[in-house]
Amino acid sequence: MSEPRPVAVIVLAAGEGTRMKSRLPKVLHPLCGRSMLGHVLAVARELGPQRLVVVAGQGRDLVSAETATHAPDAQVVAQEPLAGTGHAVRTVIEALGVPHGTVVVSYGDMPLLRAQTLRALVGEHTAAGNAVTVLSARVADPSGYGRIVRDEAGLLAGIVEEADATAQQRAADEINSGCYAFDGALLADAVKRIAAGNAQGQEYLTDVVAILRGDGHRAGTVTAADPAEVQGVNDRVQLAAARRAYNGRLLEAWMRAGVTIADPATTWIDVDVTIGQDTEIGPGTQLEGRTAIGRGAMIGPGCQLRDTAVADDATVTHAVCVQAEIGPGATVGPYAYLRTGTRIGAGAHVGCHVELKNAVVGAGAKIPHLSYVGDADIGEHANIGAATIFANYDGVAKHHTTIGAHAFIGSDTVLVAPVAVGDGAYTAAGSVITGDVPPGALAIARGRQHNSEGWAQRGRRRAPGQDEGEGKGAQAR
Ligand code: UD1
Ligand code: CA
Repeated sequence: MSEPRPVAVIVLAAGEGTRMKSRLPKVLHPLCGRSMLGHVLAVARELGPQRLVVVAGQGRDLVSAETATHAPDAQVVAQEPLAGTGHAVRTVIEALGVPHGTVVVSYGDMPLLRAQTLRALVGEHTAAGNAVTVLSARVADPSGYGRIVRDEAGLLAGIVEEADATAQQRAADEINSGCYAFDGALLADAVKRIAAGNAQGQEYLTDVVAILRGDGHRAGTVTAADPAEVQGVNDRVQLAAARRAYNGRLLEAWMRAGVTIADPATTWIDVDVTIGQDTEIGPGTQLEGRTAIGRGAMIGPGCQLRDTAVADDATVTHAVCVQAEIGPGATVGPYAYLRTGTRIGAGAHVGCHVELKNAVVGAGAKIPHLSYVGDADIGEHANIGAATIFANYDGVAKHHTTIGAHAFIGSDTVLVAPVAVGDGAYTAAGSVITGDVPPGALAIARGRQHNSEGWAQRGRRRAPGQDEGEGKGAQAR
């Protein structure tokens, strides 16, 4: 039996999000690499609705742009004024017409909701022949949520908001998640009859339940198996809680897929990251954006990788990498900074306090200590000595440096770009290289050492073994 598909999913995302105290619309706050709205839209699309509608109000342009990113096929309907969740749905129906079939309404501030839960809601709604089915949950702390009200027979009678609830209703631990399946035509009729005579002076969508029951229609609930899924995010404390919960879910999935995560409490992995089997993630590591890690790699401790590709068996320790590529078996860190456009070849090594930007490093090449490499190509098996600086910027423009295969750059070399060092060439330690070096040559570009014999004695400077004081005030010239 094919599962029932809703004619429409309506996502409410117009609210002011006052409790976030933010310039950014609430539903655009991110967790695990995606906005709350992005998470909700991803789940909504999995239901395969004929129509996906987002209601926007506060920060409408931003909400529309975010909608286009995650659901290009969705329609955005503007709500004005922001007169409540019932008013939001009424606005959609007035704009797009009466939907015939099952309509799912979900709020843009419930990022933890799973598609399988929505499917169960739609399935039960259809099977029971309800006019409305509410996704409810039993929670330890119901404060802030609307409460489920049941009649003497235990049937769903309505939903009461906390601000309007009696003490007895408030004591109920069964809450409204903010996600519902409706019969579209009955919903269209009911939203016209919502009164705004409540504590907040708003048209509550939740009132539709009592209206439909009053008309003699069937109403029911589906209880969320995991109450954590229906956590609504109204403020930044709840956002942090939702982020931790979502992250925990992602980490668990990776561990079950064969990834070792040493310390789940300090590991953060965005939703679009991929990780291969037998990779180990050390403590204090953040994998962000579209980062892709191969098999058998070791990432961490202490890494932040954004949109970075790491091949099989590579090791990255205490590093910050942004839009970089790290080849198979390469080693990076500790304390390395790989910036945009950096590509590290197979088996290459980038060591301690090394920064690279827009640099391609050949297979087996080494940059072990204290270097800056900007706008460069480094050949295979080249060795870049400690404290080498690629001087790529002349104050106006950036210039490129090329280092040949098997070249050997002496410690403390400054390579003043544009410049090229040929295959197998050497530079002497401390050189400032301003001209190209032919293949196989040694370039020395530094002051020649001169020893001034007996200089200290002549100048009555303190010689070894002389008393303190005698040479007092002495200063090298
Ligand atoms: C709502 C429910 C409450 C439920 C809780 C679950 C109502 C009246 N109350 O309360 O029963 O337990 O969610 O988290 O529905 N929105 C609009 N237009 C508006 C007002 C709100 O689009 O005019 C959107 C918001 O952007 C938000 C969603 O609707 O995404 C819910 O609004 P919110 O103010 O967060 O409702 P709650 O007070 O949390
Ligand atoms: Ca809410």
